[in-house]
Amino acid sequence: MKLIFVHLFILLAAEQIRSSPTRRLEQFAFEKYLTRARAVLDRVPLIDGHNDFPMSLRDFARNQVGELDINDLTTLEPWASSSSSHTDINRLHTGKVGAQFWSAYVGCTTQYKDAISKTWEQIDVVHRMVEANPTTFEFVTSAQGIENAFSQGKIGSLIGVEGGHSIDSSLAVLRMMYDMGVRYMTMTHSCATPWADNSQVDNPGGVAVHDGLTPFGKTVVAEMNRLGMLIDLSHVSRKTMRDALETSTAPVIFSHSSAYALCNNTRNVPDDILQLVVANGGVVMVNFFPSFVTCSSTATVQDVANHMDHIRNVAGVDHIGIGADYNGITEVPVGLKDVSEYPNLFAELLARGWAEADLEKIAGLNLLRVLRGAEAVRDQMAADGVKPFDEWIPQADLPAESLPCSTGQIKSVKLTTE
Ligand SMILES: *[C@@H]1O[C@H](CO)[C@@H](O)[C@H](O)[C@H]1NC(C)=O
Ligand SMILES: [Zn+2]
Repeated sequence: MKLIFVHLFILLAAEQIRSSPTRRLEQFAFEKYLTRARAVLDRVPLIDGHNDFPMSLRDFARNQVGELDINDLTTLEPWASSSSSHTDINRLHTGKVGAQFWSAYVGCTTQYKDAISKTWEQIDVVHRMVEANPTTFEFVTSAQGIENAFSQGKIGSLIGVEGGHSIDSSLAVLRMMYDMGVRYMTMTHSCATPWADNSQVDNPGGVAVHDGLTPFGKTVVAEMNRLGMLIDLSHVSRKTMRDALETSTAPVIFSHSSAYALCNNTRNVPDDILQLVVANGGVVMVNFFPSFVTCSSTATVQDVANHMDHIRNVAGVDHIGIGADYNGITEVPVGLKDVSEYPNLFAELLARGWAEADLEKIAGLNLLRVLRGAEAVRDQMAADGVKPFDEWIPQADLPAESLPCSTGQIKSVKLTTE
C-alpha cells in the first residue's frame, strides 16, 4: 500500500516537472534546434562510419535478404526484442542518414579458419540488401558516388571490412576485396593478426605481440594507399595507430572510436594520437556505445556531445565524424536509441553554440574530404607508376596455430633437366 502511494507521488511529481513552464520552454527551444539540425542534414549527407546491420542479417536472417522486408523491423521477431536491433529503412529515413559504411564483420574465431569465405558472405549480403531496396539504397565506392546518391535522395552504401584477419595475410585478397567495393579495412578486430597488434594489448597486463605493425603490416598500409582503401584504426593498439599514421601517405579514419581522455577504454583515441590525426588530415568518427562514452552501461546524448567538444578542443572540428556502431552495440545512450535519433545529437550541439557550418563538417564533409584525399593518393601513385605490392608474408611471421589449416605457401618445385 505504502509502495503504491510512493509510486503515485513519483508519477505526479514527474508530471509536474514535465508540464512546468521552464520545461515547456526548454522543449520549445529544443524543437527549434531540431528543426535547424534536420535542415543541416538536408544540405549535407550524414555519413556514419560503422553499422553492423549486416551482422544482424547473418545472425537473425541467415543472410536471406530476399525473404526479408527491412522497412520496419520494430515488430518482427527476433529483431523486435533484440537489444542490438537499431536499424531499418524507416528509421534510417527518420534519422536522415545520407550514407552508411556497412560493416563486413566476422569474428576473430574465424582467423586461420573460414574468415575469408565468411567475409565474402558479408560483402555479398550488403550488395544484395542494396539491390533488393533500390529506391532506398545505392551502392557507392567514392566521395563523388556518395554525393550523387545523396542528391537523388538515396542512402549511399559503402562497405568496410572490420578486421585484418579477414584477408588472411594476403594482399591478393585485399585487392579483390577492393574490387568488390570495400572502401575501408579496420586493421584488426579484438585479436592480433600476423602483422598488427589490437587494442587489448594496451589494457593493464596486456602484452604486445608485434609492437605495432610488422614490416608486412606496413606493406598492407602501402597497398591500401595504392588502392585508395581507407585505413581504419579503430580496434588497434596505440603503437599500431602510431605506426600506421607514420606509414600512411593518405588520411586515415577511426570508423567507430571515441575520446580516451573522457573514458579510458582502449577502444578510444588518446589525445597524443589525436594530434597525429591532425597532421595526417584524418577523422575520428565518434562511437555511441556507453562503454566507450562514459565507461559505464548508461549514457546520454549530452555525454556523446561531450566527446565532440573534447575532440574539437584537442584536434579541431575538421577531424570529427560519427560512427555510432548501431547493431553492434547492446546498450545505447538516452536520446540516441537507434538510427532515427541522430538529429538529437546535432540539436544538442546547436544548443551548445556550435555553428551550422561545423555541423556540416562532422555530419559528412570531413569524411568526404578524407575519402577524396585517399582517392588523390591512389591517383598520384598510379601516375607515378607504383606497381601492386606483391610480396607474401614471410612464412616465419605466421604463428603455429595458423599452420594446421594451411597447405603451405608454395609447392616444392621439381627440378628437371629433361
Ligand atoms: C581506467 O581507469 C580505471 C580507474 O582508474 C582503472 O582501473 C583502469 O585500469 C583504467 N583502464 C586502462 C585501460 O588504463
Ligand atoms: Zn567494432
